[in-house]
Amino acid sequence: MNKHLKKVSAHHDWWSETYDSDYSKYFTLYHKVTLNNIQRFLPDDKDTMILDAGGGTGIWSIELAKMGYNMVLTDISQGMLIKAREKFSKLKLDSKIDIRISNICNMTEFDDNQFAMALCEGDPLSYCGDHHAAIKEVVRVVKRDGIVIASVDSRAAALNWLREKGYQKATQQLLEMGKVVMPQEREELCYVIHAFTPEELKGLFESNGLSVERIIGKLVIANRLVYFKSRDPKIQKWLYHLELKYNDNPAFYPWAGHLEIVGRKR
Ligand SMILES: C[S@@+](CC[C@H](N)C(=O)[O-])C[C@H]1O[C@@H](n2cnc3c(N)ncnc32)[C@H](O)[C@@H]1O
Repeated sequence: MNKHLKKVSAHHDWWSETYDSDYSKYFTLYHKVTLNNIQRFLPDDKDTMILDAGGGTGIWSIELAKMGYNMVLTDISQGMLIKAREKFSKLKLDSKIDIRISNICNMTEFDDNQFAMALCEGDPLSYCGDHHAAIKEVVRVVKRDGIVIASVDSRAAALNWLREKGYQKATQQLLEMGKVVMPQEREELCYVIHAFTPEELKGLFESNGLSVERIIGKLVIANRLVYFKSRDPKIQKWLYHLELKYNDNPAFYPWAGHLEIVGRKR
């Protein structure tokens, strides 16, 4: 593992302790929106294999294994994978999910055209240090007509965050290069992330043999409304409805922290 990936993996080892509780606290609506997007593209045949690359603690592998799909979960962080293994075993899903420690940029353990679908949820393309190598690998292991879904950090949102915090040098770095060393609480865990514009992300997919079927922003509206933190189920339902109505509208992409793209292998 190179120096960059050692930092990424150390950060996620550290985060693995609280990742699931952070996620369930702040990302309920985000989760529903992602699930809605994934469900639109799931293969009909449940016997096919789905890759969950950079799958972390297994949030998406669990969702899909419960539906009956056979999952392969990969990650570079041992910490995240330990949590994933514990959860699969508690849920008795071990037989449906194969766990591998593997770098998305170099998945030599997998054959070409092996998976009906590949998920790269929660930004592995932004973190991996070489998104060109990563997408090539993901496309290689997916079958023709198979689906690739990836969520990434949005450049507009990252710029906004850095600007608000007053990180002038980092703002300039991101503007000029599309990547930046994100300031973290723990200095030794600071590493480069790549934050994408929608056009760049679309170009990355198209130039690697994927036709783009959908791009959404996550979240585009709900988190900007004062009602966002309300626990009232009616309000939550309305916010979900708003997200689904507007999240594929390019006018709202700059409002989203993350972009999620769906491509089909030509
Ligand atoms: C924010 S977590 C998302 C986890 C999961 N996909 C989800 O949506 O909850 C990002 C994950 O990407 C993994 N990752 C980063 N770079 C990677 C690489 N080069 N190869 C494989 N996984 C990587 C991290 O270790 C981490 O588990």
